Amino acid sequence: MTSQAQVRTGKGEGETVGVALLGFGTVGAEVYRLLGENSEAFTHRIGGPAEIRGIAVHNKNKQRPGVPAELLTDDAKSLVLRDDIDLVVEVIGGIDYPRELVLTALNAGKSVVTANKALVAAHADELAEAAENSAVDLYFEAAVAAAIPVVGMLRRSLAGDQIQRISGIVNGTTNFILDAMESTGASYEDALAEATRLGYAEADPTADVEGHDAASKAAIMASLGFHTRVKFEDVHCEGISTITADDIEAAQEAGYSIKLLAICEHLVNEETGEESVNARVHPTLVPQEHPLASVNKSFNAIFVEAEAAGELMFYGNGAGGNPTASAVLGDLVGASRNIIHGGRAPGENAYANLPLADFGDVRTCFHINMEVADRTGVLAAISNVFADHDVSLRTVRQEDGESTARLIVVTHSAQERVLDAIVTKLGELDDVKAVNSVIRLGA
Ligand code: NDP
Ligand code: HSE
Repeated sequence: MTSQAQVRTGKGEGETVGVALLGFGTVGAEVYRLLGENSEAFTHRIGGPAEIRGIAVHNKNKQRPGVPAELLTDDAKSLVLRDDIDLVVEVIGGIDYPRELVLTALNAGKSVVTANKALVAAHADELAEAAENSAVDLYFEAAVAAAIPVVGMLRRSLAGDQIQRISGIVNGTTNFILDAMESTGASYEDALAEATRLGYAEADPTADVEGHDAASKAAIMASLGFHTRVKFEDVHCEGISTITADDIEAAQEAGYSIKLLAICEHLVNEETGEESVNARVHPTLVPQEHPLASVNKSFNAIFVEAEAAGELMFYGNGAGGNPTASAVLGDLVGASRNIIHGGRAPGENAYANLPLADFGDVRTCFHINMEVADRTGVLAAISNVFADHDVSLRTVRQEDGESTARLIVVTHSAQERVLDAIVTKLGELDDVKAVNSVIRLGA
């Protein structure tokens, strides 16, 4: 059980909430603009004005039209500790430095709103404990799928249900890239450059394309959904940097779109009844008639399967300055209300503490694209490898080339560890020139 939160009294109706904005990039600049443009509405919604009293940035001398110079500082820590700051909004990014700032704020009795999924996925326990000890709030709605209210839905709306599975597209940059490659034939490099220009990509886009950003979001969703701490390193993670134009074409020909999916499952062993959780991120072939296949550009979509609610789907803007600012400002209103009126938002609860499933046990269907010698007997040799591992084939498609053929095999459901063994065996066959790609199937 979590400890009983200390009683928190409010500043009182009509008092001003002093806000420190840490970061003034894609997200921070929009938070500042929208809060300024709608300040009267925010005052009504909160019960008192929310005033940005300082903005921490890396480079104080950068031109920031419309921002009073006296608000800017490059000393974020001093800003956080100022007596006139009640609430800290962290939109810098990274892990170590924001961790230090967020812990400093929480330990000093200031509530925190952050959009930083990497930080939350890596240090949720420590941050939640610091918030609990100081009886303040830690909000992070923008950390998962930006404007789509996933965190609030898992923390509050579905708090009375048993969630079985959460899956979907939670990274706008990779969805933008895959969609551009599929729909316009854009190159991977050009599509990534455009996603970066539009403000979707992380400061280091490796986090997007290698799946790390989606894995952080998967860790957060699994932790909240299954009441079990799942960290970034617990998530099996594969990105899209190895997906080629050939993979996209082969997928299209077979009636699929390739999407980077995050999948979080609550598993129950049918024989023993033992429960466990699994979270993974990998490129996935989604049938073109499935709703996820038509989630294009930088949009995100999340499916939730819950015992009583059944299937739910959430769709919307998952990246970009404005959509992310919307989620940050929603949190700012919630945290500010509690500063004014007293009380706290629902906190973390990892009471279920379920074990993590072994990734090798996870079952999926696979789409395997091989280059093989174009001669009789090859197909039989390949089929035998699958049969030897007790894996049945759903479809086999062959396209003849000049001296070799492209062979595409789709399996029925098989364990990850069995598929690994099959790929190793295929690679040892003389007639298999290359296993070009192995992509999982399903949504
Ligand atoms: P940007 O890179 O656009 O902005 C980062 C900001 O942080 C800049 O203003 C930069 O200052 C400032 N900064 C960097 N280092 C320091 C430092 N040492 N001290 C003080 N300020 C510093 O990032 P985004 O706005 O895109 O992202 C911010 C956070 O929001 C990240 O955690 C990201 O994962 C998350 N997020 C982003 C989304 C998006 O679509 N962009 C969506 C959802 C979440 P300067 O201006 O001087 O360079
Ligand atoms: N880089 C992230 C994305 C931002 O592309 O989805 C939103 O979290």
